[in-house]
Amino acid sequence: MRKQELMFAVLKQLAAAETDIVGKGVAKVVQLSKLPQRTLAINAHVLHRTIARRVAAIIVKIDRRPRLALLLRPLRTTAVGRWLARRLLGYYRFYETIAEAEASASKYLDRSHTHPSTIDRQLSVSRRLRVSDYPVLFYIRPLLTGDRVLFDLGGNVGNLFYCYRRYCDLPPGFRWRILDLPQTMEAGRQLAFERGFANTLEFASTLQEASGSDILLLSGAAHYFDQSLPEMLTTLADPPPHVFINRAPLIRGDTCVTVQDAGYVMHGCKLFNVEALQAGMRKLGYRVVDQWEAPELSLHVPLYPECSAPAYSGFYFSR
Ligand SMILES: C[S@@+](CC[C@H](N)C(=O)[O-])C[C@H]1O[C@@H](n2cnc3c(N)ncnc32)[C@H](O)[C@@H]1O
Repeated sequence: MRKQELMFAVLKQLAAAETDIVGKGVAKVVQLSKLPQRTLAINAHVLHRTIARRVAAIIVKIDRRPRLALLLRPLRTTAVGRWLARRLLGYYRFYETIAEAEASASKYLDRSHTHPSTIDRQLSVSRRLRVSDYPVLFYIRPLLTGDRVLFDLGGNVGNLFYCYRRYCDLPPGFRWRILDLPQTMEAGRQLAFERGFANTLEFASTLQEASGSDILLLSGAAHYFDQSLPEMLTTLADPPPHVFINRAPLIRGDTCVTVQDAGYVMHGCKLFNVEALQAGMRKLGYRVVDQWEAPELSLHVPLYPECSAPAYSGFYFSR
């Protein structure tokens, strides 16, 4: 009991000072002090999470300065260094699959995509346009004519539909079709009904329902799929002529899988190499109409700047 109380006190101290520690947009404040005392007392992973976040924040800061970053090299290149890095950084490492990363993340914070806070959060951030929404809206508005279908992959409960519709005249017959996780789509159906959009907002069961649609929108979700965007498009009999990928943490290094620590939730995620993605799209006959940065978001893999996205990316592909 004494040991538990001591641990609780230590964790509270650490949590009190815990702020944005992995650079802009990554690990925001987690209110450890608001979690039940029992969880805190018994969960050594919580303590490890706090340490890992702090170490990661320091490393990311050093990584930004190439000369200082040389000092960190042994943490990548020597066996002892790698062992130490693994002990200190915990879940900030590479995995084989998203499922494996997700399993590791859940030990440190058992909140992922279907946690109720994520739906509230998506609806709340979409009350206003984010910087990276502007290029999408600019290109999408003229395309929203007649009885076209927009397929919104990873569309949550329709947060972007509710946001974008304020800036577009959606014609009668136009349909916005979402594919997300079943639990999230159930909440989306309910919300669409309550808000009177059950005729415009549809919910799909499989990716194949993107076949024959006019526009594919993959916003803030490309990194949650094991398949890359071109790999997914290859499975469609009739791929959409207009494809938008937005808010994607695309990287210069080789495609890799890691844990994304967003502070209030943690996810397994796959960071795709930007050139491979473009080459894959070219192979399918798409050309880049435009590309942009989503500076409001970043994702860092400490010690591996080439596998980090200091800003997310967006592309409009057409064919
Ligand atoms: C950050 S939200 C993006 C919401 C919205 N598209 C936007 O840009 O604001 C990521 C979404 O991807 C969804 N997602 C994650 N893994 C998924 C999967 N395997 N299949 C379908 N959706 C998934 C999550 O449930 C979540 O709604």
